[in-house]
Amino acid sequence: MDDLPWDALHARVTACTACELSRTRTQTVFGVGDPRARLLIVGEAPGAEEDRLGEPFVGPAGKLLDEMLFAIGLRREQVYIGNILKCRPPRNADPTTDQARCCRPYLMRQMALVRPAVILAVGRIAAQNLLQVDTPLGRLRGASHPFALDPHHAIPVWVTYHPAYLLRSPAEKSQAWADLKKVRHALEAVRS
Ligand code: URA
Repeated sequence: MDDLPWDALHARVTACTACELSRTRTQTVFGVGDPRARLLIVGEAPGAEEDRLGEPFVGPAGKLLDEMLFAIGLRREQVYIGNILKCRPPRNADPTTDQARCCRPYLMRQMALVRPAVILAVGRIAAQNLLQVDTPLGRLRGASHPFALDPHHAIPVWVTYHPAYLLRSPAEKSQAWADLKKVRHALEAVRS
């Protein structure tokens, strides 16, 4: 996996049968965006719309994610968006440990190919799986966490609420905007 270019990685994901989700998916949801993006967004798993269309964050949560990005001056096409799982869990169940383990090499390779300056994990499941911790979301927000892409290169991971959660709990939006401002500053800091 470590040396696969984009097209071979995409083909590998499309053909994946590593876990039982391959039997219930409509299609895999690989990831989308600028392959040289400075910001990489990590979500949880495809939902019904994503499973139907083959693209991450295209349902209602995706619309809010687009707005969140817009708030920090970015369009969807300027970032890279991927998920912990490439296949939809039936009934949108939380990813199991085994499903996340099977899928992890794909996201790792996507991150290595993009080599973003900053990563933003949206929601508890994305953050905990990416960072391999079980710390509550509230304690992961507010500061960055180094993610070692390889022994010589760590990328700061910021954490905020999942847009689907913000749709259900709009009162938390102001906290998410505060997180996003930190992400914007982090991006600016790496540029300068
Ligand atoms: N929620 C996610 O975490 N990812 C998607 O792609 C869609 C909804």
